[in-house]
Amino acid sequence: MVGPVNVMDVRSRAREALAPGPWGYLASGAEDEGTLEENRRAFRRIRFVPRVLRDVSDVDLSTTVLGREVPFPVLLAPAGFQGLFHPDAELATARAAEETGALMVVSTLSSRPMEEVAEAGGRRRWFQLYAYRDREITATLVRRAEEAGYRAICLTVDTPRLGRREADVRNRLEIPPEAMPANFAGLVDVPEGPGAGSAVAAQAEELLDPSLTWNDLEWLVDRTELPVVVKGVVAPGDAVRAVDAGARAVVVSNHGGRQLDDTVATIEALEGVADAVGDRAEVLLDGGVRRGRDVAKAVALGARAVLVGRPYLWGLAADGEAGVRRVLEMLRDELEGACALLGCPSAADIPRDRVEWRIRTP
Ligand SMILES: Cc1cc2nc3c(=O)[nH]c(=O)nc-3n(C[C@H](O)[C@H](O)[C@H](O)COP(=O)(O)O)c2cc1C
Repeated sequence: MVGPVNVMDVRSRAREALAPGPWGYLASGAEDEGTLEENRRAFRRIRFVPRVLRDVSDVDLSTTVLGREVPFPVLLAPAGFQGLFHPDAELATARAAEETGALMVVSTLSSRPMEEVAEAGGRRRWFQLYAYRDREITATLVRRAEEAGYRAICLTVDTPRLGRREADVRNRLEIPPEAMPANFAGLVDVPEGPGAGSAVAAQAEELLDPSLTWNDLEWLVDRTELPVVVKGVVAPGDAVRAVDAGARAVVVSNHGGRQLDDTVATIEALEGVADAVGDRAEVLLDGGVRRGRDVAKAVALGARAVLVGRPYLWGLAADGEAGVRRVLEMLRDELEGACALLGCPSAADIPRDRVEWRIRTP
């Protein structure tokens, strides 16, 4: 039997592999899922304008992110609770990162402790930080990430509280012990049960700090020697402010449509952010990337690289480490093909004039 040939085939396998609770947590967006859909649709509104006769016999996919080389411009976005999707959880993802050379962003809410994930593999690793009500806990997490050899702290700023994901409420999502956030063992008691809604929502309410401000970003930048990346901006003004506060990169993200529904699609927000930031910091994007050619569109509009969330989690659910690896290879190979057909021998250098908007939403 022929295996999955694209990322959406992997999605179908993941759906078969998972029970409704974990599937709902993985697949769903906030409320009416308008942003979740729009992240995809907006990519489809961009058309290519290929150029010809440019010797594309060797396409170079490599680029640098925060000064370090990556073999292709696709990173693994932070995703918590990977124990819901596969028994090897983040360890499988880390091993696939190691094999492919992809940079993995490890979530604060990982089901395995960040030190174990670091040992499992992946030389290129960032730690994604949620800032907690208790700053001492936040500081402890940062110090542990430094000691475990993480290369950057990626502060997620679009989550003062959790968006309302109705699938999780409907399923009364519970987190089994093997999927619980392992970084908090011995630090805080995190609720396991769904409370009035879902367990993830109950945990977020307990831990996330809704009073976070720009001062806290400055606090973090002062506190760590590691470069700080700010994830979860769509407004150019916020991106500039993050850079003013010392961020070395920003991720244009709406959390994969899981926070405020009807937030602008990330690929539409990208160019404004990239223009505003200029060369003062690097700009990355996530949300709705499902094809190698989506990566090419993002690079043309100003992204140095993209992150994928659901695609590799589908791979993880379908086939563990091999599944994550396969998804990365699919995106890499598709990008290679897209660059060749676009007349771009380097994926790091896809000029703006290779894409145009079919329809601009007003
Ligand atoms: C199951 C799941 C868990 C996530 N957990 C986190 C997290 O712990 N921290 C975070 O910053 N973002 C988290 N995100 C958001 C992703 O990092 C990323 O922004 C989003 O998935 C990108 O959109 P995509 O899924 O369309 O690729 C999560 C997303 C999913 C789907």
